[in-house]
Amino acid sequence: MNKDTFTFTNNRTGEKYEFDIIDATRGPSVVDISSFYKQTGMFTFDVGYTSTASCTSYITFIDGEKGELRYRGHEIEDLAENHSYLETCYLLLNGKLPTEEELLDFDLELRNRSFIDENLRHLIAAFPDSAHPMSILSSGVSALSSFYYEHLNIDDEAEYQEMARRIIAKIPTLAAFAYRKSLGIPFIYPDVDKSFTENFLYMLRAYPGGKLKRTSEGREEIKKIEVEALDAIFTLHADHEQNASTTTVRNVASTGAHPYVAISAGISALWGRAHGGANESVIAQLEMIGEVENVDAYIARAKDHDDDFRLMGFGHRVYKNFDPRARELKKLQDQLKDELNLDSKLMDIAHKIEEIALNDEYFIERKLYPNIDFYSGVILTALKLERPMFTPIFVIGRTVGWITQLMEFKTDPASKIARPRQLYLGK
Ligand code: CMC
Repeated sequence: MNKDTFTFTNNRTGEKYEFDIIDATRGPSVVDISSFYKQTGMFTFDVGYTSTASCTSYITFIDGEKGELRYRGHEIEDLAENHSYLETCYLLLNGKLPTEEELLDFDLELRNRSFIDENLRHLIAAFPDSAHPMSILSSGVSALSSFYYEHLNIDDEAEYQEMARRIIAKIPTLAAFAYRKSLGIPFIYPDVDKSFTENFLYMLRAYPGGKLKRTSEGREEIKKIEVEALDAIFTLHADHEQNASTTTVRNVASTGAHPYVAISAGISALWGRAHGGANESVIAQLEMIGEVENVDAYIARAKDHDDDFRLMGFGHRVYKNFDPRARELKKLQDQLKDELNLDSKLMDIAHKIEEIALNDEYFIERKLYPNIDFYSGVILTALKLERPMFTPIFVIGRTVGWITQLMEFKTDPASKIARPRQLYLGK
């Protein structure tokens, strides 16, 4: 560890205070201000944590200036194009890609753990048909903590891994049940003969008895290309270091609460429009814009400070260059355009927005680029997913990231209960 220090001077008193600089393996170094209050009697002030590292982590690295994202050192482009989502899950959980045999064991374990307790199915059935799948999903995951209460005091690696694999396996089933509940149609149980991603599409699309839709040309099969596209989408969402939902998961876990309750809180945090909920809002916005000719007027609204309209799917706290996940999705969109009948009208509007925004002074100055949510909606629509399922898709992909970050938090001896301070300005 580097012994360099950072000196703060209090210009009111002339006193100087030294704090250690700790170097990162990649990315910015940090100044360790954990003793700041003890030494100076003052707090530091950083609303929204724009300059604050809240933990050490070995999992995911982002270089926002270059537009780079890596899981455990592996480039996101390589993982999305050359590896499956389950390989990525294994990588995040174990720090290395699996061997063929390890992948087979992992895959089989997830298939066999994909069922949910019948009482949980009854709980989902009790929701109103009008319930948003995200609300059912966050409640269902919270309820999982009462079915697997044994995961509360985890102090051995095997127990942790079981807890993690259990939730990764059950999330698609919960999401599919939540979706079918919102349509008022019967639940479809998982099929252990199908892969993780195909099984999810099957649970969304099948009729009771496991048959797929019948058309005059025969059965509407789940296409390989659809499975591959959704698999890549899951990989692109798998982790993103200390974003709002992951920080929520770590904060809830820091109190000693059950891991699944912490994940449920992360799902709630993700639902907001500024975070994962943006993918649903992007399509709603493209539909609202309606025609390419209307794009200019909406761009003008996005730039007007007196109008609270924001261009959904644009901007990011960390990326000040193209979001690499968005770049991958744009590639995927182009590959799928003909084969999956992508909505060309929505794509034309999206292209026009992208073209104007990338050349407009307002967006250039503020470094506002398309983010992952800008492109995912058009692809998800082509995969026959309804809009309310877009954020649950993000949840399925991100669960492994949340669980891995939670495990890292729990095994880090330096972890503490999250308890920020405040600048009090009241009476
Ligand atoms: N449209 C128009 N102006 C914007 C936008 C936007 N989408 N995003 C930021 N700005 C402006 C903002 O008004 C501000 O301008 P000024 O400096 O003149 O006041 C400046 O850019 C900086 O914005 P900020 O709100 O201070 O930036 P932030 O880092 O706090 O917020 C963000 C990041 C993602 C919440 C924001 O860019 C946003 O609301 N984007 C739209 C929602 C969205 O697409 N969210 C998905 C994020 S990626 C997926 C995920 O990780 O969940």
